[in-house]
Amino acid sequence: KRPAGAPDKDLAQRVTKVGVIGAGLMATQFALLFARRLRVPVVITDLDQKRVDQGVATIRAEIDKLHEKGRISSDESNRLTALVHGTTDKAEFADCDWVIEAVFEELGVKQDVFADIEPHISQEAVLATNTSSLSVEQIGAKLRHPERLVGFHFFNPVAVMPLIEVVRTPGASDAILATAMATAKSLRKNAVITRDTPGFVVNRVLAKLLGEAMHAVDSGTSFSDVDAALAPLGLPMAPSELLDLVGLRVGAHVLDTHHRAFPDRFYDSENLHKLAEYGALFEKDAKGKIKGFDKKALKIV
Ligand code: 3HC
Repeated sequence: KRPAGAPDKDLAQRVTKVGVIGAGLMATQFALLFARRLRVPVVITDLDQKRVDQGVATIRAEIDKLHEKGRISSDESNRLTALVHGTTDKAEFADCDWVIEAVFEELGVKQDVFADIEPHISQEAVLATNTSSLSVEQIGAKLRHPERLVGFHFFNPVAVMPLIEVVRTPGASDAILATAMATAKSLRKNAVITRDTPGFVVNRVLAKLLGEAMHAVDSGTSFSDVDAALAPLGLPMAPSELLDLVGLRVGAHVLDTHHRAFPDRFYDSENLHKLAEYGALFEKDAKGKIKGFDKKALKIV
């Protein structure tokens, strides 16, 4: 028997072509995952050709890495390279039946991105947002068909993290939800259906952890001491490493969203916003490996 709240599997539509809006850190990772697991064409776009080219180059480099590691054959590598296509022409989204965005985490930007693409896509296409903590319902506010919008929240690194949060808005149709659940399964991820509340489930908990870690830093404990103090908890990454992984701007945004929604319960760190503006927490070597804390960045704190 189907668990309460879960959609009927039979309502799911098959995804035959994926459109990805945004060609940054998260979008490139899941564009490749869609091509690899669904074996369908993936078209990826961004604001301009330069960003699109960079995104496609990132995906190709990742395909090469998989091949070098022996995870995929040369045939598979060629097949994946051919499946992913970059474009700035929205007309290429016309036959996508799944369109997902991972653009800048700002409500107005996401609303406009969807309102902009809707006239170019078919009536049946699912729209999905990878927002980390904004309201999915509000993101769909400018859509003609908001019932086809669903939250589809990946975690970084996408290839490794096993979860997708499928965010159900009050108006979402059962068919859209069933398609989202079936798609997550095809991507070989565990999916949980969450309510459309700030931070859903995972980022709500993460905002507590990172917020309290930042509060300790802002109160005068060094970041390395905070990391060291939390090590016995067995977290896969220390708070500073996790912030570096998700990106300081995203981290600062997650704290900000939670503090606005629940001011008494969540801490927002002004220093984290300053660090995000400065753009660095760590010093890295030429290969991008972390060498240590960036003294200049910490002086800002
Ligand atoms: N990008 C892509 N792949 C990565 C990666 C990265 N940044 N980091 C690690 N990997 C891959 C490695 O290539 C390796 O793949 P392989 O098995 O094919 O060689 C695999 O992950 C395991 O890597 P390691 O051997 O280095 O294993 P570790 O034991 O060090 O684990 C980790 C790495 C899985 C990233 C682990 O440290 C971890 O789980 N960290 C926590 C990550 C986390 O909490 N993510 C959620 C962040 S919140 C979020 O994304 C939501 C957003 O809305 C804010």
